[in-house]
Amino acid sequence: MDGNGRWAQARGLPRIEGHRQGAAAVRATVRAARQIGVRVLTLFAFSEQNWRRPPGEIGALMELLLRYVIDERAEILDNDIRLVAIGELGRLPPRVRGALDELCAASAKNRTMTLCLALSYGGREDLVQAARQIAERATRGEIRPDDVSAALLESMLLSRELGDLDLLIRTSGERRISNFLLWPAAYAELYFSEALWPDFGRADLEAAIDDYRGRQRRFGRTAEQVES
Ligand code: IPE
Ligand code: MG
Repeated sequence: MDGNGRWAQARGLPRIEGHRQGAAAVRATVRAARQIGVRVLTLFAFSEQNWRRPPGEIGALMELLLRYVIDERAEILDNDIRLVAIGELGRLPPRVRGALDELCAASAKNRTMTLCLALSYGGREDLVQAARQIAERATRGEIRPDDVSAALLESMLLSRELGDLDLLIRTSGERRISNFLLWPAAYAELYFSEALWPDFGRADLEAAIDDYRGRQRRFGRTAEQVES
């Protein structure tokens, strides 16, 4: 989700206003995704690197996150949405973490859609913590180098239960992955929307999914193989 700051600047508003509108776009997009039938929606809400932003902006983002978790509680529970969060959650302010954990637990048995918030998340950091777990297991003599496989590494990622990423949408015209779900994005279809995130809505999501439907995913095979 990119472009909140530019959306605000274009209107002569403080960046925080862009984040506030961005939260409204999150609400609309989550609802649309659920109605369209998306099974897993991961929102890159705050990266590990976003901690480098000015403290005032970080504080406002954390406040908006807390508000989101409080205000969307009924919407999430009533619509059978399972909320999960990935990232270095220990860095979140305790009040935010508490509210988030509580809603994750309350919605844990829901099945219609998984809504994952990537918070204080970095794709490289996720790979590093997985490598560290493997090293610890090896040190304890539980595994040997030959046991290290793609499946083992994947099973140690924070994102393990999300599965592979099918469609990655980045807004605001930027064409970067910016340390999002690096491992799960190995075969993701990339879609770049010119919309600034606060302007993103159902029509943009539908356009992205329509585009995705027209792609041929070959996973290393030939077109002939895939078509037969
Ligand atoms: C994305 O919008 C929101 C977060 C990273 C939380 P930005 O804040 O990055 O907006 P721009 O890129 O400055 O326009
Ligand atoms: Mg940005």
